[in-house]
Amino acid sequence: MSSIRSLLLVLALACLLLVTFPSPCDSSPASAVHHHVNKCRPSGRLQGPDTGHTCGECCRPGHFYPTYRCSPLVTTQTKAVMTLNDFSEGGDGGGPSECDGKYHSNSERVVALSTGWYHKGKRCHKHIRIHGRGRSVLAKVVDECDSMHGCDEDHAYQPPCRPNIVDASKAVWEALGIHDANYIGEYNITWSDA
Ligand SMILES: *[C@@H]1O[C@H](CO)[C@@H](O)[C@H](O)[C@H]1NC(C)=O
Repeated sequence: MSSIRSLLLVLALACLLLVTFPSPCDSSPASAVHHHVNKCRPSGRLQGPDTGHTCGECCRPGHFYPTYRCSPLVTTQTKAVMTLNDFSEGGDGGGPSECDGKYHSNSERVVALSTGWYHKGKRCHKHIRIHGRGRSVLAKVVDECDSMHGCDEDHAYQPPCRPNIVDASKAVWEALGIHDANYIGEYNITWSDA
């Protein structure tokens, strides 16, 4: 009798432990990836400034913009939106590139990646392969497209980056055979680590 009672007690304790501390696997990276495949949700939001700066893409006063610490999972065909960036001094890309503190000529094939993909600089100086329009091109990661901050002077009063942006130099667009990048503005591409 007492052995059955102690068995029940052990079982009850085990259940309590499981409820209190769910399977340790749940916090492992593999499991996290499994549960959150391509489910990158906003980590917060920030509000546009009180006073408006008039530019086409500037934050609107009082408007809320989502911020993202994450980006979608990187695969061999990571879907992304390619935008155009001027990495040269005096261009609209803001300060020098995060990876090397330098400006870059628009004839260089360079990109900025959304905060999650930029991964605190882990992809700095590495190449990614961009596929678009039936072509592919290698481009070097030199900068972050900040998904966590924006709407201030540092970010040219522009909203935080979306989580899925490959912000590319004109040379990248032209290598893909898109010569009217300024007019098109955005282009759906896929990319992978090279
Ligand atoms: C780009 O991709 C998005 C999301 O997959 C889609 O909604 C949109 O229509 C695409 N745009 C073009 C121009 O193909």
